[in-house]
Amino acid sequence: MNAPRKLAAGNWKMNGLRADVQEARKLAAEFPSSAVDIVLCPPATLIGAMAASLIGSAVRVGGQDCHVAASGAHTGDISAAMLSDAGAHHVILGHSERRADHDETSVLVAQKARAAHDAGLVAIICVGETEAQRDAGQTLDVVLGQLTDSLPERASATNTVVAYEPVWAIGTGRTPTLEQIAEVHDALRANVPDRAIPLLYGGSVKPANAAQIFAIPNVDGALVGGASLKASDFGAIVAALGAA
Ligand code: 13P
Repeated sequence: MNAPRKLAAGNWKMNGLRADVQEARKLAAEFPSSAVDIVLCPPATLIGAMAASLIGSAVRVGGQDCHVAASGAHTGDISAAMLSDAGAHHVILGHSERRADHDETSVLVAQKARAAHDAGLVAIICVGETEAQRDAGQTLDVVLGQLTDSLPERASATNTVVAYEPVWAIGTGRTPTLEQIAEVHDALRANVPDRAIPLLYGGSVKPANAAQIFAIPNVDGALVGGASLKASDFGAIVAALGAA
């Protein structure tokens, strides 16, 4: 098989004002070219400005969600075509915060991924178990169930990335053991429809733990929250991925 591409993706969540676009410019200056793919996903309000400031750089921009429809009467929502038009190349879908806050199901996530693919976007589809599910020994059932139901039929290495984000590791400073990450990533690799689909780990990735996480087989990169907000931190994570 072709080796999966390596990707460092930053999820700014609901953080960032116009002044923070300079962090993206700093990152781009640090990596004028890059052996690994780099994507920043700011809030929708900053996508246009960030994309404009990154023209000609190695850093790409992504959205954090999209609607299933291309346009229409959906107040407050944003379509995949709009993200693309604003300069986005990727879109995060099915993040656990959206599954929890907005009752998003895997079936809906697959519909959104179809819409993203129709608009030419790469879908970063998130899966992950809660702490209660892990404690109950359900991790692989939950994660593989989400994978099966969230990926659309056309999912391939050119249009899809899968991010494993244990819910209990997000924003907590806690990470699974390297063996626990390896177990899930091995299972994901065995079950993705195209074995070259990049598999990201997400949940409290920091400069201090990035290198050991990137050394795990079947980990092709990271989806980073808090540590993606500053170019100094995220740049160190990008460098660790490049060196892995
Ligand atoms: P943290 O890196 O802040 O734990 O967030 C992870 C995440 O949810 C990325 O999508």
